[in-house]
This record gives sequence, C-alpha cells and structure tokens, in this order.
Amino acid sequence: MSTIFVTGGAGFIGSALVRLLIAESDWTVVNIDKLSYAGNLESLAALEQNPRHIFSRSDICEREALDQLFATHRPAGVIHLAAESHVDRSIHGPAEFIQTNIVGTYTLLEATRAYWLGLGTAEKTGFRFHHVSTDEVYGSLGETGLFTETTPYSPNSPYSASKASSDHLVRAWMHTYGLPTVVTNCSNNYGPYQFPEKLIPLMITNALAGKPLPIYGKGDNVRDWLYVDDHVRALKLVFERGLPGETYNIGGHNEKTNLEVVDTLCALLDQLRPRSGGRAYAELKITVADRPGHDRRYAIDAGKIGRELGWSPLESFETGLAKTVAWYLANPEWIAHVVSGEYRHWMEKNYSNRTTE
Ligand code: NAD
Ligand code: DAU
Repeated sequence: MSTIFVTGGAGFIGSALVRLLIAESDWTVVNIDKLSYAGNLESLAALEQNPRHIFSRSDICEREALDQLFATHRPAGVIHLAAESHVDRSIHGPAEFIQTNIVGTYTLLEATRAYWLGLGTAEKTGFRFHHVSTDEVYGSLGETGLFTETTPYSPNSPYSASKASSDHLVRAWMHTYGLPTVVTNCSNNYGPYQFPEKLIPLMITNALAGKPLPIYGKGDNVRDWLYVDDHVRALKLVFERGLPGETYNIGGHNEKTNLEVVDTLCALLDQLRPRSGGRAYAELKITVADRPGHDRRYAIDAGKIGRELGWSPLESFETGLAKTVAWYLANPEWIAHVVSGEYRHWMEKNYSNRTTE
C-alpha cells in the first residue's frame, strides 16, 4: 500500500506536510480538503503536475464522498488535519467548529473504520489514523509548569473544546473498535503560507501595508512557538513510527509574550524593509480589547517525542522567524491574492486537471 490520505492539506500546516511527504517519502498523497476560506491551493502550486499528489475537493462531513475515496485509493493510513482552526472565529461563530471538528472527525472515523474492517490482517495492523491536535485542549497554564501528555483536558474556547471532543472520539474509536489511532498535540505554529488572521502573518502583512498592529489586552499572554517545518517532520515521524494508542506532545521550547513576538517582527522588518522617513514599525502597535476567555500561557513538554522517536526542532525562534519574514517579503503575490480573494479562484484556473469533486 503506497497511498495515504491527508485531510486539510490545502491549509497552512497541511500544505507544509504535503510538500514534505512528496519531497521526502515515497507516499502518494490524496489531499482531501473542502477549500474553506483557509484552504489555498496556491500554496501547493509546485505540486500541480506531480502524479504523487492527488487533490480531492471534499468535505469530511460527507460520508458518501469519503467512502468513495477509500474505495478508489485504498490508503495505508490517514493523517487528519482538516479543521476550523482560528480561536477568534470560534468565539464569533462556533457552529462551523462543532460541524467540522466534531461531526467531521466522527464521520471520517466511521468511514475509516468501515474501510479498515475490510483490510487483510497485516494491512489492518499497519494502518494508522493520526489525529493532528492542539495544546489548547489542556487549557491555560499559570506562571510555571508545562503541558505533558497526561495533563488533564480543560479546554476554554469553542475551538479548543471542539478539538478536545475530537481527540476523545479518536481515543474512543481505538479503545472500543481497535482502530489503530495516534494523536499529536502541538503548540503555536508559524512559517510560510500561514493565513494572515493568525498573530505572526497578520502582524507582518499589516506592518507592510502600514496598518495598525492590534495587541490584545496587555500583550503579556505567552505562546510556545514552533516553526511549521519542524512540526510536519514530527508528524511524518509519528505517522510512520508512533505507537497505536499513544499521544505525543510537540513543541519548540520557545515561550514568548505576544509583545516580544511583535517587537521582534518589527525589528526584523526595520532591518529588511525599512519604512519611509526612518520611522519604526513598532510605532504601528495599538492595544485593543482582550479576547474573551483569553488563555494566559501555553508551554509544551516535548520530552516524550524526543526520547521515544528522536525528534527535536531544527529551528530556534530567531532562525524560524527570520526565515518567515524573508518568505513573506519574497512572496508578495501570495499575500496579495489572499487579501484580494483571488486565491479562491486559483484552483479553477490552475488545478482543474487534478481535481476530483
Ligand atoms: P488551517 O485553517 O490553515 O487549514 C485547515 C484546512 O482544513 C483548510 O485547508 C480548510 O479548507 C480545511 N477544511 C476545513 N473544514 C473542512 C472540511 N469540513 N472538510 C475538509 N477540509 C476542511 O489550519 P492549520 O493552522 O493548518 O491547522 C491544521 C490542523 O492543525 C488543525 O486541525 C489544527 O487544529 C491543528 N493545529 C494547528 C496549530 C497552529 O498553530 N496553526 C497548532 C496545533 C494544531
Ligand atoms: O496553541 C496552538 C494553537 O495556536 C492552534 O491550535 C490554533 O489553531 C492556532 O490558531 C493558535 O491559537 P492562538 O489563539 O494561540 O493563535 P493566534 O495567532 O490567534 O494568537 C496568538 C496570540 O496572539 C494570542 O494570545 C492572541 C494574540 N493576538 C492574536 C491576534 C490575531 C493578538 O494579540 N492580536 C491579534 O491580532
């Protein structure tokens, strides 16, 4: 079996994973993505002619479409990333989060189980359903301590509650039905191709456009940042070598306050793309109302995946952020198409020959 499914492969992390799998493995990847506002096939432009990347515009909530995909492609496993991923959006409108993250994961689990039950013994044992989840399921930390794989779940936002639900469903499908599942919980990612609603790409694109840089509350909330290519290397490793039933936390040991992040970005932009009149980008910072229920601090203990699978991040916060800023500066077209909405039509123009509906 040489094919795997990746759901959400047109998103930020999913597209980085697909690029890695095509470059550094022999898997053929069936990329299942409904192309929500966050899905962008322009991030996979380089793979348009690649026969090992098969794109299917499909919704994980639609069982028939999933059954058809399993019957056609007969994968050796599934790496599940498709989700609604932005906390602020979940606060303004939780319904889509319940639908995709909970109902969608349930539907995908059932379609997977039906297919898996029909496999021979060796394929059944080797099969993996890998759920890509978040550290936000653990809730919020005080000044000290780290999230481990045994930290009790305590999700606070509609987004994190929906991801916690999906984690529980995945675990139950292993416990009850024996489906070989594995879960990873990762900290905040950043890097190229991230939709400019999340902190780092929003600050870069606003700064370059001379727009305000909105800091929630005092800017002293802490996140633990990981460069996206380090995350997807960990995902490949867990999918290929992780043990069924296990959870692995993934993080970069890069705790920063939001103000530290924004100030570092401003300083990098001052060097690489100075503003006219010698003004500093940091002058664009403004304080805005805090996010309701804003989690104070996240920090991951990534010891288990290091000890058991030999993973460690290659990028420090400084090297990863420098690469990220350089990428956004070198790719103004990608940003312009996202800002104008043109990316929504990119598939019709460029990807139609490789798309199955
Ligand atoms: P993203 O929002 O950039 O991408 C999500 C992708 O899922 C999009 O391409 C979208 O079109 C697709 N999608 C949404 N609903 C779908 C549906 N019903 N059917 C099929 N496809 C659908 O998200 P991301 O930041 O790349 O995150 C990917 C996964 O990783 C998510 O599950 C998220 O919870 C998790 N995660 C993200 C981070 C982070 O910092 N971004 C950290 C830890 C875990
Ligand atoms: O921890 C992993 C999670 O990280 C993922 O599961 C989520 O999918 C991902 O979106 C991310 O969640 P956060 O809420 O931490 O990320 P976001 O980029 O939205 O915000 C990071 C911090 O910056 C947070 O404390 C809120 C703050 N912020 C964010 C935005 C968009 C601001 O101060 N201003 C802003 O404009």
